[in-house]
Amino acid sequence: MSVECISKLSKTNTECLIVFGSQKNKAASTKCKFKSVSKELSGLSKSKVFSGAIGESIFIRGFNQEGYNSLLLVGLGEKAMEESFRIAIGYAYRKLEEEKAKAANICYESIQHITKDPTRLGELVGEAVTLAAYNFTTAKSESKYKELNISVLISAANQKKVFSKGLKQGVILGESTNFARWLGDMPANLLTPTQMAKEVQKAAKNTKLKVSVWGQQRLEKEKMGCFLGVAKGSAEEPKMIIMEYKGAPSSKKPISLVGKGLTFDAGGISLKPGAGMEDMKYDMCGAANTIGSALAIARLGLKVNLQAYVGACENLPSGTANKPGDVTTARNGKTVEIINTDAEGRLVLADVLCYASEKKPACIVDMATLTGAMMIALGSTHTGFYTHDDNFAKKLETAGQKSGEKIWRMPLDPAHTKDMKGKYADLSNLDMSRKAGSATAAAFLNEFVDDSIPYIHCDIAGTAFGAGHRTSYHRNISATGCMVRTLTELARDWK
Ligand code: BES
Ligand code: ZN
Ligand code: ZN
Repeated sequence: MSVECISKLSKTNTECLIVFGSQKNKAASTKCKFKSVSKELSGLSKSKVFSGAIGESIFIRGFNQEGYNSLLLVGLGEKAMEESFRIAIGYAYRKLEEEKAKAANICYESIQHITKDPTRLGELVGEAVTLAAYNFTTAKSESKYKELNISVLISAANQKKVFSKGLKQGVILGESTNFARWLGDMPANLLTPTQMAKEVQKAAKNTKLKVSVWGQQRLEKEKMGCFLGVAKGSAEEPKMIIMEYKGAPSSKKPISLVGKGLTFDAGGISLKPGAGMEDMKYDMCGAANTIGSALAIARLGLKVNLQAYVGACENLPSGTANKPGDVTTARNGKTVEIINTDAEGRLVLADVLCYASEKKPACIVDMATLTGAMMIALGSTHTGFYTHDDNFAKKLETAGQKSGEKIWRMPLDPAHTKDMKGKYADLSNLDMSRKAGSATAAAFLNEFVDDSIPYIHCDIAGTAFGAGHRTSYHRNISATGCMVRTLTELARDWK
């Protein structure tokens, strides 16, 4: 895929013209400069074939006007908002794939009204096209997938300059998100914790992101007993991946990100049912999206300091695995009885959060596919987040509004903390009532973060994968890279 801004049409750009139409009183209209297009559009609108609604796309082969072979009309809906534009781009891209197009040229005049700021418009185009193009083909022996060339024609040199600047940034954000999606989509045998660490090192080359990796020995030395307990049922070595970026003076406290990286979660001795277990390769999406966010922040050169940590291992049943009733000790000395070995994410995160917290960052955000209960509560539309800090919650909500990703604050109550008290140990990894399962998990995690640090836990179990039917720029199956865009926005506005 390529997306570029051009000032003159060439032969390849004239294959197809993409025109976006808006909807008003159920009729379609556009600001496209070509009379022939407006005529076509009003005809289709009158005959109720195209109304400009979001989700509509019509491909007219043999259009043969204004130097273009085909015309693609795409609906923007009633209010042209940034997220509806991303979604419209998603539909446009799918249509072009269906029609086996090789290249298409976006009519700039038909999208100019979406935002007053041409740099932002460039960002939106770069980001949305890059996201829509993502396709996981690594595991196919032969890929027939052909990528598209998308261009935007802007003749005024000053407009082109500012738009292109945004376009480049949007592509970086899209690529970083797509890298997170790729990590998520990789099967667990090909993306082991060791391999994940190698991929991060490779991706960080030529960026300002510094990567270090800890293995078994170092994790033992660092007293990460809960993390190691989960990993010991597997033959794969656990890894902690540490990413650091300095974009601000050292006196500025860093933003800290933490990700759950279960490259496979079979449940351990509390084995999961067989049906659908293959989806548990996605149990490292918190890690993937942490990595994607760190890459985006570093590649965009945002003016923040960043520390990011990923705890990566497998949760398998074996003769060396955790057993129900076992007690492990976390880095901060708290003891945890393991009632259900399938509630392993919180055990891994406990130690990693302790470490992140010790560095006294400005804030901590973790991402984890932590609970099935989160999926039940919010489905695949919203990421649920938990925090005791109202101010920090507002900041994340603002970032979410900018990124277009839907997030929803969930309640975190002292009652949830009480539910996680252990019978024999300090804490239990499971509240036996199973009520408010994602909230009690969040309360458990809070036991490992210093109270003075603004902390948000994001449960992305519902939004990390298989949410493509909601957002056209994703595919039905595959990982979404959720929260990469939101956390990048958070870092962008960080003061
Ligand atoms: N990785 C799962 C949660 C999950 C489920 C993520 C479905 C994405 C889709 C997690 O480790 C888990 O197994 N959680 C258990 C916790 C329970 C034992 C308290 C769950 O949600 O059932
Ligand atoms: Zn589990
Ligand atoms: Zn899990």
